[in-house]
Amino acid sequence: MTSALAVAPVDGPTLLQPAPAAAVPVVETVDGYARALDAVRRSGRTVGVVPTMGALHDGHRSLIRRAADECDVVAVSIFVNPTQFGDRADLAAYPRTLGSDLEVVASAGGQLVFAPTVAEMYPDGLGSVMTKVSHPTLAARWEGASRPGHFDGVATVVTKLLSAAGRCRAYFGEKDFQQLALVRRVAGDLSLPAEVVGCDTVRDGDGLALSSRNSRLSPAQRRAAPVLFRALRSGSSLVARGEESPAAVRSVMEQVVAGEPAADLDYAAVVHADDLEPAGSCASERPLRLLIAAAVGPVRLIDNLDPCRGH
Ligand code: PAJ
Repeated sequence: MTSALAVAPVDGPTLLQPAPAAAVPVVETVDGYARALDAVRRSGRTVGVVPTMGALHDGHRSLIRRAADECDVVAVSIFVNPTQFGDRADLAAYPRTLGSDLEVVASAGGQLVFAPTVAEMYPDGLGSVMTKVSHPTLAARWEGASRPGHFDGVATVVTKLLSAAGRCRAYFGEKDFQQLALVRRVAGDLSLPAEVVGCDTVRDGDGLALSSRNSRLSPAQRRAAPVLFRALRSGSSLVARGEESPAAVRSVMEQVVAGEPAADLDYAAVVHADDLEPAGSCASERPLRLLIAAAVGPVRLIDNLDPCRGH
């Protein structure tokens, strides 16, 4: 769709109400996206954006709903960003479900979808030398250690998406806590015009954090997967009972995961919530976060918990 066509319906007053899926305009160009959101702001309305890679589930839906509660017009971007995948096979296997995604966006209160092609986002090609956004420490640890280059890809594409969006509130899930911390720093350090909003993790009834990767678990692996959340809860209760030693909290989390033969722990950590550096003490004045990552069969799962809130 051209930008001119895309701008008109977004700007119309009827789109203040959740629209049926067919009525959600899809913009495919960066320029069309920027113009559409400029038009919204010019009409005196506020903009919320929800960056995603599609295959939308209830976790994404909760971000869109929250954005719709807090902003006049909500735009959801759907772009499977190649530069954040280490592995071509992983990128090729990533689910692409635009038709049902449009229905999720509409039913959750979104009014615009930005779905660019790879060529639109990276006009000079992926092999070319390009400017990258990178954070030396936040991108290196934890998930960054297992997935080299991943967070440079995330930081770069989020910078591009937020630059195109202009002044807005931008909604990200706590599910990907390191990503959220990184995006906050990037937006702050580069003075991007977005206010970054972190949203609670949406879980299944047994505690497993929703993720598009969960569909790749066999039934037996799916039954094993909530061990991550159980480990986090055990670590969190220990902190609540006054344990000051991060090593003791880590060890409890490790023991819980060791009790599930189908799970292979990558890391369990107690970190400062802002810079994700390991905490020296659980009695720290600074907010803490428990992080965990484990492979369950072929699927690498991550989760985290605020030990003071227990979620
Ligand atoms: P994606 O994995 O599609 O996730 C989009 C947003 O949904 C992220 O902010 C993520 O943290 C949030 N999310 C995923 N599962 C969630 C859950 N169970 N509860 C709450 N929020 C959840 O993260 C990405 O895409 C990409 O890296 C992106 C930021 C779009 C850059 O390409």
